[in-house]
Amino acid sequence: VPMDMFRSLLFVPGNREEMLTKAAGLPADVLVPDLEDSVPDGEKEHAREIVRDVVKTLTQAGRTVIPRINALDTGLARDDLAAVVGPNVYGVTVGKVTSAWEIEQVSAILDGLEEQAGVEIGHTRLIPWLESAMAIVNAYQIASASPRIVAVAIGAEDFTNDMSVQRSDGGDEVRYARSVVAVAARAAGVIAIDTPYVNFRDAEGLEREVRSALPLGFKAKFAIHPAQLETINTLFSPSEEELEYARQVIAAFTQAEAEGRGSTSLDGKMIDIPVVKRAQNLLAFSDTIAA
Ligand code: COA
Ligand code: MG
Repeated sequence: VPMDMFRSLLFVPGNREEMLTKAAGLPADVLVPDLEDSVPDGEKEHAREIVRDVVKTLTQAGRTVIPRINALDTGLARDDLAAVVGPNVYGVTVGKVTSAWEIEQVSAILDGLEEQAGVEIGHTRLIPWLESAMAIVNAYQIASASPRIVAVAIGAEDFTNDMSVQRSDGGDEVRYARSVVAVAARAAGVIAIDTPYVNFRDAEGLEREVRSALPLGFKAKFAIHPAQLETINTLFSPSEEELEYARQVIAAFTQAEAEGRGSTSLDGKMIDIPVVKRAQNLLAFSDTIAA
């Protein structure tokens, strides 16, 4: 899997060594050893030690590893970063970011740790979690706060907690926040990652949720259980029908251009430059997946 391919990102609790080892063989694009909310307070230090060792094994096995660290205001973030920064992590994902200032603080800590670890300054990519009302208001500022940022994630559980609203199956309560995150991500030139689907035994529910994230512009989703990976990978990859249509669009347009026309039609639909660009992007993305 190419390093910058994000469709599925699998969480594994950082204090569960056997699960982390097993994750090496699972078909997730990215593995996310968690130091944040799946690890109880009494286990934070233990989890850090386990994750420090396991990132090396996983990266050497060819996996892309992005541990999740605790929010800056917990007082745990600096030690979390010190445990993982180096050649064996592609990046870190930071829980509960609320402002661009926090990204600047984390980035400054990373500069120092990267120098100590002997890796290039800027090596460690960042994925902030936007999961509060304040984060949604500041979404674009956060998403564009550092060149380290490659993606931003929406966290629906913490967001609805902050808003004092209940989670529902339809997801009305997070529709606005998800839309904001997807648009802010695009404006900042980074990928939008959708919240984990917590009912991990409900395959249909997961599919429905992915299908609702796709038209908003999400390109990836967190997983919490191995059973979710195939659905996520498949639905965030172009389908054979979509690829075939894209090829037809390009063929029709190429012919129109040869005849001196800037737009044409295919199956009763207008084909012009933005449609062709979408088709080209889809085919390029499909090539990346194949690679
Ligand atoms: N990563 C790697 N392996 C996992 C896994 C994960 N996230 N979730 C489950 N597995 C493994 C289990 O260890 C088990 O392995 P085994 O067959 O060798 O014993 C197998 O998959 C089947 O697991 P299952 O019995 O269906 O689930 P469970 O009850 O053991 O675990 C959860 C359920 C939710 C506790 C577990 O999936 C989990 O911890 N997920 C991650 C939670 C997390 O990190 N949350 C933070 C972000 S919101
Ligand atoms: Mg959260």
